[in-house]
Amino acid sequence: MSDTHPWWERGVVYQIYPRSFQDSDGDGIGDLPGIERRLDHVAALGVDAIWLSPIFPSPMKDFGYDVADYCGIAPIFGDLAAFDRLCAAVHARGLRLILDFVPNHSSDQHPWFQDSRSSRDHPRRDWYIWRDAAPDGGPPNNWISDFGGSAWEWDAATGQYYLHAFLKEQPDLNWRNPGLRAAMMDVLRFWFDRGVDGFRIDVLWHIVKDEGFPDNPLNPAWTPDRTERDRVLQLHSTDQPEAHAISADFRALADAYGDRVLIGEIFLPNDRHARWYGTLERPQVHLPFNFQLIENGWDARILHRLIADYQASLPPHGWPNWVIGSHDAPRIAARVGEAQARVAAVLLLTLRGTPTFYQGDELAIGEVPIPPDRVCDPQDLRQPGLGIGRDRSRTPMPWDASPYAGFSTVEPWLPLNPDWPTRNVAAQDRDPASMLSLVRRLLALRRAHEALSVGAMTLLDGDGDVLAYERRVGSERLLVALNLGSVAATFPVPADAELGEVLLSTHPAHGADGKLAADEALIVLLKGKHR
Ligand code: GLC
Ligand code: MG
Repeated sequence: MSDTHPWWERGVVYQIYPRSFQDSDGDGIGDLPGIERRLDHVAALGVDAIWLSPIFPSPMKDFGYDVADYCGIAPIFGDLAAFDRLCAAVHARGLRLILDFVPNHSSDQHPWFQDSRSSRDHPRRDWYIWRDAAPDGGPPNNWISDFGGSAWEWDAATGQYYLHAFLKEQPDLNWRNPGLRAAMMDVLRFWFDRGVDGFRIDVLWHIVKDEGFPDNPLNPAWTPDRTERDRVLQLHSTDQPEAHAISADFRALADAYGDRVLIGEIFLPNDRHARWYGTLERPQVHLPFNFQLIENGWDARILHRLIADYQASLPPHGWPNWVIGSHDAPRIAARVGEAQARVAAVLLLTLRGTPTFYQGDELAIGEVPIPPDRVCDPQDLRQPGLGIGRDRSRTPMPWDASPYAGFSTVEPWLPLNPDWPTRNVAAQDRDPASMLSLVRRLLALRRAHEALSVGAMTLLDGDGDVLAYERRVGSERLLVALNLGSVAATFPVPADAELGEVLLSTHPAHGADGKLAADEALIVLLKGKHR
């Protein structure tokens, strides 16, 4: 293998939602020793890196995305010693460890915010974003929280509003303040020095706001079935030029440590999204998360176009990436059904670009009903009835058929998938036709055939529900053909090639005959045509 591609270009990232991976102390909530205990599962899957959603001390109003101490571990998850053990165990298996960095906001319980709100004269007042009331006493502008309602909260004690892009318990930090910036760079150093291999950076495009705090324009496309946030376009509250400069500073720090990765959470149209790579001279994040497979319909024509447009939008030095599930998005198997979830796994793991694979999708966990009295997600609780609940993708990993699926010894914090007695790791481990077996085969194939990770990609023109592309490196050529439909179909073959061995199918083994069964995905070797 050539060495010109760093590990994060070749590799696959596996997202662990720590509350729901494995409980080790019988409190119904996953924890760090639990993750350590289950590392064999992660290693056997064949991924390269683990990203952990936040594990820091937190009142858990937004399940850890409200950080009260950036350099500690929440007691429910463990302590720094447990973290160091986990980090060493991850590295001992040849895996990398990526943490979640939440720079846009802290918890309102963070000592910095306690200082900031204590008086207008406190030296840390300016570490958060405070503004006087509008002349009528209302909020300073029309900005809306991503979780609904005004993004401003009145603080009676000091007579000003503070900004919160999410919950009022998540006040936005002021990245224009040099003291705050220095303190946050120290946070990155703290974890890099402890050996972490990178960060996923939460809502990176939010971190700086227009200094004049003008009203955001109204969104003409808004309808009442959409979230309140979408009433306005976040023109002045996100994606500011100064945020790009900070992103470049993060990168310079990461590069000083060598061989680390920064993944930025960014939701923007292609042209503005691509800017988060920065320039060759002043790069920004290595991977601005690409959520287009989540945001768009499961349709071969739509996918064809979005893959082409995304590739075309990348700067020459920009490495692509793909995400199909997360702790925020509905489960892929709930969206497209189990048969198509297998096709989706082939797509995610064979497109050109670093894939992020979400825990539980290797079992094709589908819809998990959450009884109303067990809803935890603050976004759902604040805007009920929109069907935006995130709990259904945050349910515990089902490991086996023992009580509570081997996740815990007590009722877990969120319900298990209803089919956990049969849909669990142990059951799928025994079944060569299971989703788990498919994902392992895919990841092994990806490792064995460099064309699938770093090879060039050419989209082919398929008919109807068929999406097909070639991956190629050196003389190795592979064809990936996906049938997104429920009737058999044919797939295109490049004019200068003929079909060789079928390397993988979502269906029982068969030879290459140019056909795809309903819901089938195939990976086939291509041979050059001899004249
Ligand atoms: C990101 C996280 C989400 C969180 C929000 C606020 O979108 O993925 O879970 O609620 O940021 O931190
Ligand atoms: Mg626990």
